[in-house]
Amino acid sequence: MGFAIAIDGPSGVGKSTAARILAEKLGFVYIDTGAMFRGLAVYFLDNGTDINDEKSVCDAVADVIEEIRYIDGEQHVLVNGEDVTGRLRTGDVSRAASVTSQYQPVRRKLLELQRRMAESTDVIMDGRDIGTVVLPDARLKIFMTAQPEVQAERRYLQLKETGKLGDETLESILADIKERDYRDSHRENAPLRKAEDAVELDTSLLSIDQVLDAVMKLLEEKKNA
Ligand code: DC
Repeated sequence: MGFAIAIDGPSGVGKSTAARILAEKLGFVYIDTGAMFRGLAVYFLDNGTDINDEKSVCDAVADVIEEIRYIDGEQHVLVNGEDVTGRLRTGDVSRAASVTSQYQPVRRKLLELQRRMAESTDVIMDGRDIGTVVLPDARLKIFMTAQPEVQAERRYLQLKETGKLGDETLESILADIKERDYRDSHRENAPLRKAEDAVELDTSLLSIDQVLDAVMKLLEEKKNA
């Protein structure tokens, strides 16, 4: 295994923003595992699979081949040969990814791919179960948190700035985030939780630069340990 940094935490705490910038700074590969679950969710929605029915999802997942490719340094998700990267960030896909990632065959499908990607290169991988299940031997594990109200506000501003704000309100975004985080933390298979050897970082009051500084400091400490 290369040098691996695992960043876990609920949605909207700044994991992916921090991980992407750090990967570039350090020359590591950034692996966004949420995008992988989102890719499968796109397939289930396109396929008309009843996402609340475990058996239908588990039958459907057997027909999917998912691949990850890097194009100009950006991670792309291909599902049965189709690049679905541009379709991953809708509310429906977020919900479907959270619901279907509960099922073991869905997780099993991606686990091997995730581990294989970390085998030969230095990676920063973010998700929900990276420090606990996917890369238990990661050299640095960070568990990022934020107040749900802060998570919702960040998401709201992000949608507004990118012109993607539909009929969502701050309140509806907060409710969605709470529902998703509750489901991700309370599922039976690989729930979101802090690994025993992870360092918790509450980003509620931190700017992105402060988050990056905190992670770089932790990394230095690990390297010198
Ligand atoms: O990080 P994200 O919001 O893109 O993730 C979408 C969903 O995928 C999330 O609600 C739960 C699931 N997920 C997971 O179960 N395990 C991971 N390592 C990453 C994401």
